[in-house]
Amino acid sequence: MCPEVEGALWRIYRDFFDAAERKRRWRIREDIPWNQCNPNLDPAIADVVETFCCVELYLPDYVSKILPLVRHSMGRVWFYANWGYEESKHSLALNDWLLRSGHRSEEYMHDLQRKVFEREWNLPMGNSLGMLVYAMVQEHATFVNYRNLRHRVQARGGDPALEKLLSFISIDEAAHFGLFRSFVELFMQVDRDLVIAALRPVLNQFQMPAIHDLLDESKKRIAAICGLEIFNEEIFMRDIYNHFLNILGVTKADMRGPRVKKSLVTS
Ligand SMILES: [Fe+2]
Ligand SMILES: [Fe+2]
Repeated sequence: MCPEVEGALWRIYRDFFDAAERKRRWRIREDIPWNQCNPNLDPAIADVVETFCCVELYLPDYVSKILPLVRHSMGRVWFYANWGYEESKHSLALNDWLLRSGHRSEEYMHDLQRKVFEREWNLPMGNSLGMLVYAMVQEHATFVNYRNLRHRVQARGGDPALEKLLSFISIDEAAHFGLFRSFVELFMQVDRDLVIAALRPVLNQFQMPAIHDLLDESKKRIAAICGLEIFNEEIFMRDIYNHFLNILGVTKADMRGPRVKKSLVTS
């Protein structure tokens, strides 16, 4: 990667980090009204919180498998280190809510964590550009999932603690998406066709990580998410697929045909 692009990546990261330190840091113990958990909240909501907590628990694989691909790039390595810290808070906060609300026991959560760590998540794309594009789409999809879950909590009896933590998590996910989008747009300026080629399999085969292939009872979990209209095919097409075509200035035809040429963007 040329020094100009690396320099631009670093500046994007520094702006992201400085803004996060200034405006976005939150504390699990102090900033969530834990005494306002609702033990009578619809159990279907708690089931989805458990699923999202499991997805966040694959953090060891998310962090350890991407770092070797980007080790040469300071902007990307420093970002992924900061990102890992923020993602680690998400599983902690969701786990704490499941316990404090009384929807799950300590024993149950230990068992769940053990089962998660028995299976390993692998990178869905084989190079750093593919993973960058995947991460951009996945972070936005994750934002949509948490935002919609918070709306369902509000509609089904409310839970101030869960709503607050889902709001913190959604804001983090939106910020992660924003950073990845800035990186992707920078790479599009270098080689638009190559980025489009990387986007094509991601958008055409997108799945949320872990839910479909690693978690026990995945069909039941997906049905619960669809049942509450948190995420489904229609939401994917409207809020993810079409959203990315719009914001990146990409056409449906771009997503159909192969159009790859030799490029500078190889890592
Ligand atoms: Fe997260
Ligand atoms: Fe995230």
